[in-house]
Amino acid sequence: MKDLRSLAKYAVLLSLGRINRLRSSRLRFRGAYASYNEAMEHVRPGKLPGYDHDSVTEVSRVWMEQVPVWDYPVLYWLCRLAPDLRRIVDAGGHTGVKYKAFRPYLDLERVDWVVYDLPALVRAGRALAGPKDRTLSFVDRLEDAPEADLLLASGLMPYLDRPLTELVRRLRTPPRHIVLNKVATREGPLLVTLENFRIADVPYQIRPVGEVPAALDALGYDIVDEWVIGGLAHRIETHPELGRAAIRGYVARRRNG
Ligand SMILES: C[S@@+](CC[C@H](N)C(=O)[O-])C[C@H]1O[C@@H](n2cnc3c(N)ncnc32)[C@H](O)[C@@H]1O
Repeated sequence: MKDLRSLAKYAVLLSLGRINRLRSSRLRFRGAYASYNEAMEHVRPGKLPGYDHDSVTEVSRVWMEQVPVWDYPVLYWLCRLAPDLRRIVDAGGHTGVKYKAFRPYLDLERVDWVVYDLPALVRAGRALAGPKDRTLSFVDRLEDAPEADLLLASGLMPYLDRPLTELVRRLRTPPRHIVLNKVATREGPLLVTLENFRIADVPYQIRPVGEVPAALDALGYDIVDEWVIGGLAHRIETHPELGRAAIRGYVARRRNG
């Protein structure tokens, strides 16, 4: 009976996906691919491919400078670790959006906040930085980031075209703490979809649920906190039968001190 019900649900979701494909220009997520490169091959004609374009830097920028409820676990840990934080590397830090968002809650005057991002975002971030952003700086090569106490990757993992292990190993020294937020995960293998930024189609990676914990372990980190952001769970509208993505956060501490 249960099998019959799951089969019926699957068939309904499959049909819903087919209907959704007819109005795909209005959907947030479109397509299901096995890799970042395969997703890039399916960017719609006339749309910019991926994030690294000057005009894409304005998409959702002002919104990302806010503090939505799912940023609070990150803020909690940044406040808790603040006495030991002299430098943060903010990977996927966009134009410094979280530096600006968190300013009312953290004493940023005593933290060196280095954003690592793609070249177009770094250009825009430098152009937008004002006198208040004295401790904010940018690099577009992770290898150029100075040694840091904490690596923050908020909202990066869905857009990152490589594993977390590779990202962390590019740092000069492994930071004492790693804070990840908005990691898209699923039961099953990696799934890449395209997120509709209106002017651009951006590959969005939904990773196997065990991938990030396994990567942190392999890098020599213990997870000390984790959370699921219920409000951000979503399906790929053109392929709802592939299941719901759970959006997660993690705080990890380096094992050897
Ligand atoms: C959704 S934004 C996250 C902004 C902000 N950290 C937040 O939490 O709201 C994702 C960021 O990841 C960056 N990104 C994508 N691929 C990247 C890569 N290979 N290296 C560095 N940054 C990348 C994008 O340029 C973008 O700024």
